[in-house]
Amino acid sequence: MQVVERIAQVRTAVASARSGGASVGFVPTMGALHAGHRSLIDRARAECRYVVVSIFVNPTQFAPHEDLSKYPRPREQDLALCKAAGADLVFYPAVEEMYPPGGLTTVDVAGLTTLWEGAARPTHFRGVTTVVAKLLNIVGPNVAYFGQKDYQQQAIIRRMVRDLDWPVDIQTCPTIRDPDGLALSSRNVYLSVAQRHSALCLSRALREGESLFRADKPPRDIAAAMQAEIRQTPGVVLDYAAVVDPDTLQELEQSQPHVAALLAARVGTTRLIDNAIWSAKD
Ligand code: PAJ
Repeated sequence: MQVVERIAQVRTAVASARSGGASVGFVPTMGALHAGHRSLIDRARAECRYVVVSIFVNPTQFAPHEDLSKYPRPREQDLALCKAAGADLVFYPAVEEMYPPGGLTTVDVAGLTTLWEGAARPTHFRGVTTVVAKLLNIVGPNVAYFGQKDYQQQAIIRRMVRDLDWPVDIQTCPTIRDPDGLALSSRNVYLSVAQRHSALCLSRALREGESLFRADKPPRDIAAAMQAEIRQTPGVVLDYAAVVDPDTLQELEQSQPHVAALLAARVGTTRLIDNAIWSAKD
């Protein structure tokens, strides 16, 4: 496994793999890698001949009051995980490599980015789409892998790639959870034992929501039940719990065969998100 810090080195390595006819799979991450990230790398390894992982804590997707400086950066552990998963190349750039002074261009997806996470974090998705645009242009993969865990993020990236006609296949991989239901997240390390227990209300709300969906309850009632589940948990502050169209992310008035449930809450100072896709069985 090769570890490189410069854009030019990525281009050279990928070009050489490509000249041998390899398909290129790419997994962008911010590091602090866990089994969720690992599942994306495993999938890339299974489907592509050459696998690239990027590890870059992207400053432009953090607001000034957010956790950029304390975001975990366990370099050696992360590289060991990439190696164990069989990555061929890890791109580990410094901030100056990705954002040399004087940059004037950002990538903005309208509409989808002002809802839900975008309402709570107004500059977040511009940072995500801009860095993912840069990384896709640097690596030039055939397939890029994202997690369903960040449902809105993958929906926005799909839209960006489609609107800008980029020749990359976006694949979304299932959310990996701890056995008790908590979705794995690099931010879970901020939780105390008691907070971690409280955080289970998110996956509990999704399970309850799913049973109401299966019982043909209207979307607003499902959302209200999920909100109540989260609100009644001590130490947890609900941000949103909604049943939405999986593509437009607009809240639904009437039930439909495929829906997405999106949740966000604060546990202490840690913001957690979770989601589920439900499809009516025919
Ligand atoms: P990060 O939070 O490190 O996540 C990297 C990828 O791992 C994302 O596609 C995310 O959805 C996926 N992931 C995280 N937790 C997961 C879980 N429990 N199960 C499955 N997949 C999971 O998302 C980002 O980084 C950044 O915004 C990035 C896209 C790298 C741009 O900076």
